[in-house]
Amino acid sequence: MTLPRPLRVLGIETSCDETAAAIVDGDRRILADRVLSQTGIHTPYGGIVPEIAARAHLDHLDGLIRDALAEAGVGLADLDAVAATGGPGLIGGVMVGVMAAKGIALAARLPFLAVNHLEGHALSPRLSHGLDFPYLLLLVSGGHTQLLAVEGVGRYARLGTTIDDAAGEAFDKTAKLLGLPYPGGPAIEQAARDGDPARFALPRPMLGRPGCDFSFSGLKTAVRQAVAGLATPPTARDVADMAAAFQATVAAVVADRCRRAAALFRQRHPTGGALVVAGGVAANGAIRTALERIAADLGMPFVAPPHRLCTDNGAMIAWAAIERFRLGQQDGLDFAPRPRWPLDPTAPKAIGAGVKA
Ligand code: KG4
Ligand code: ZN
Repeated sequence: MTLPRPLRVLGIETSCDETAAAIVDGDRRILADRVLSQTGIHTPYGGIVPEIAARAHLDHLDGLIRDALAEAGVGLADLDAVAATGGPGLIGGVMVGVMAAKGIALAARLPFLAVNHLEGHALSPRLSHGLDFPYLLLLVSGGHTQLLAVEGVGRYARLGTTIDDAAGEAFDKTAKLLGLPYPGGPAIEQAARDGDPARFALPRPMLGRPGCDFSFSGLKTAVRQAVAGLATPPTARDVADMAAAFQATVAAVVADRCRRAAALFRQRHPTGGALVVAGGVAANGAIRTALERIAADLGMPFVAPPHRLCTDNGAMIAWAAIERFRLGQQDGLDFAPRPRWPLDPTAPKAIGAGVKA
C-alpha cells in the first residue's frame, strides 16, 4: 500500500517589492523557493514606487512560477492548491499575484487560497521549526510592526502595532536622511559598527508607556533635526554615530514593547510559548541580541526563522495555505484583493498616520 503523498502547494507573493513563487509540501519541505528582489529598481527613488513595483511583478512572475515548478520537478497536475497573497499590501502588486493564482487555479482545476500576508509571516516559524501554538510573534519589516499572540490557524490576538511608521520604514527613512542607500536597515547596521551610540541623545518613543504599541515618526524627526545641525553632507563619523544612536534607540524601544507584550501573553498563556521574531528587520544584530536577552530573562525559547523565510517570500504563503487547506478552507475566484486586512479584526483600531493593518 502506498501512503498518500503530502499536500503540495504553489505560493505566490507580490504584495511589496519581492516577486516570489515557491512550492512547499505538507511535510514542511520547501521544494522550490524563488525570490526576485526589486531593490535595484527602486534605489534611485529612495523607497518603493508602487506603480513600478506592480509592473515589475507583471514582467517577472510567470517566469518565476515556471522556474519554481521546474526546480521542484512538478507540473501543475501535481499540485493540490495554488495560493497568493491577497493583502494587505500595495494593491497593484497584490492584484498581479492574485490574478496569476486564479488563472492557474481555473486552468488546472485547483483550489485557490488568498492568504493574508501577515498570516504568512505569523505561521512561518511552524514551517521552519515545526513550532507548536501558542507563541508570541514580533513581526518587524518595512511594511509592518506588530506584536501578535499566535494561538492557532486564524487565531491571532494583536497585542501591539505601530501608530505611524513601521520599524523597517524608520530605518529606511533615517538612512535617507544620512545619505545612506536603500534599503536602509543593512546600511545603518553597517555604519553603526564604527559609531558611538552615546553621542546623540535621541528620544525613545513610547518607552515605558502602557500598552505595546510602537511609534517611530518622532524618532525620525529627531534624527532630521540633529542632522540639520551637522555639516552638509554629514561626515562619516557623524553618520556612524547617528546610525549607532538610532539603532540602539530602536532596539531599546522594541525590547521594552516586547517585554510588555510578553506579560500580556503570559496572562493568556501562563505556561509554554516561544518568543519569535520575523520580518526583514529581524536580521538586525542589535535588535536580535536585545530580543534574545528578553527571551532568556522570561525563560522563553527564542526562535528566528532563517533570514530567507523572514523576509517576503512565497514559501510562507504556500505554507499558510497548507495550514488553512488542511482545515478545509479555500477561497472563491471572486476574492477581491485587500489593501488593508487586519489579522485580528477585534483589536482596537490603532490611531495614527500611516496605520497599515
Ligand atoms: O520583510 P522585508 O524584506 O519586506 C517587507 O517590508 O515586508 O523587510 C524589509 C525591511 C526594510 O525596511 C529594510 O531596511 C529592513 O527590513 N532591514 C533591516 C535590516 N535588513 C533589512 N533593518 C534593520 N537592520 C537590518 N540588518
Ligand atoms: Zn512582509
